[in-house]
Amino acid sequence: MSQNKEKVLRFGVSVEESLIQKFEKLIRRKGYTNRSEAIRDMIRDVLAAESAEKGQEMVGSILIIYDHHRPHLVEKLLALQHDADAEIIASQHVHLDHHHCMETIIVRGPVEKLEELQGRIGALKGVGQCLLSQASCQVLH
Ligand code: NI
Repeated sequence: MSQNKEKVLRFGVSVEESLIQKFEKLIRRKGYTNRSEAIRDMIRDVLAAESAEKGQEMVGSILIIYDHHRPHLVEKLLALQHDADAEIIASQHVHLDHHHCMETIIVRGPVEKLEELQGRIGALKGVGQCLLSQASCQVLH
């Protein structure tokens, strides 16, 4: 939580009732006591994720949920990783059920290369979700 005396601005947001109900449910589950703190955290997360400049070295993980029965999908996933410009540090595979697999790939490289790999994997037919979490390597220095 910020301890400085920066001026706090209020703003109004128009949101559909069903959307705000889902949001309220989510923030209660996450333990927030009010909307403002939840929205502030979300803004910070988005800004942190989007603040990387082209060429900036990042580390991250790509979480993929996919249907391994989809023809050629497994081969395509492997080929994308072998040919990626980003460094693939490790990957872990979990068989979720008869159809679905979860794979996490630990990656390192320039932000645009990680996003490119996420985009290519996410575009494959049979991939349900493809989420990239990344952090700047600068925090390590
Ligand atoms: Ni599997």
